[in-house]
Amino acid sequence: MKVIIAKDYDDMSEKAFGIMLETVKSNPNAVLGLATGSTPIGLYRNMVRDHRENGTSYKNIRTVNLDEYAGLEGTHPQSYACFMRKNLFDQLDIQEKNTNIENGAAKDADAECARYNALLEEMPRDIQILGIGSNGHIAFNEPGTPFGSTTHTVRLAESTIKDNSRLFDSIDEVPRAAFTMGLKNIMQSKKIVILANGANKANAVYGLVKGEVTERVPASVLQLHPDCVLICDEAAASRL
Ligand code: PGA
Repeated sequence: MKVIIAKDYDDMSEKAFGIMLETVKSNPNAVLGLATGSTPIGLYRNMVRDHRENGTSYKNIRTVNLDEYAGLEGTHPQSYACFMRKNLFDQLDIQEKNTNIENGAAKDADAECARYNALLEEMPRDIQILGIGSNGHIAFNEPGTPFGSTTHTVRLAESTIKDNSRLFDSIDEVPRAAFTMGLKNIMQSKKIVILANGANKANAVYGLVKGEVTERVPASVLQLHPDCVLICDEAAASRL
């Protein structure tokens, strides 16, 4: 794994944007694997600014997102579908039909997972953006998730519910379950860029880069990927 230590959040976001721009410029039909959470917001801001200032086009770009809360409609303000429209899609020239995310409101969870897995088979990712949870999760693959997993539903770990409660009015409103791409789906991306900032990510980043490759730390599977880049700020890199 290549490790790039950035000065701070803005520098991390700039560096991630550089890699994203290279992907989009070299292939205007690229498939981008995208993530939600606070970490990639700076990257998305750079993409929007560049689109406005330099006209980089996303007209033929297709996207697949990692995960979605179960039980939330895509119109719910805390849904990841809504997050993506607000922070990225609505500000680019991307076609809505080319953006994909699990349907959080699906009544038949197994059918929804099967649909998403079939979609992922048809859309090999050129790049996958990832954040990392303080417990070492990637997407909603919590500790103990098999490396061979594909899209599935999960009960969220207590630490994840607590971490994500800052975005809701109260912790009781945080959904307890989610749909997530599995670790096998994530590993199929040609290139992976994982981002981390802040001291609360330092232990997870240590496990990602230097720890044992174990299902107890889902992110550690990335040590086995042939083209994975970690970009983190100094605080997140403090244990490396
Ligand atoms: P964050 O979440 O970007 O909001 O820190 C990361 C994650 O849980 O994957």
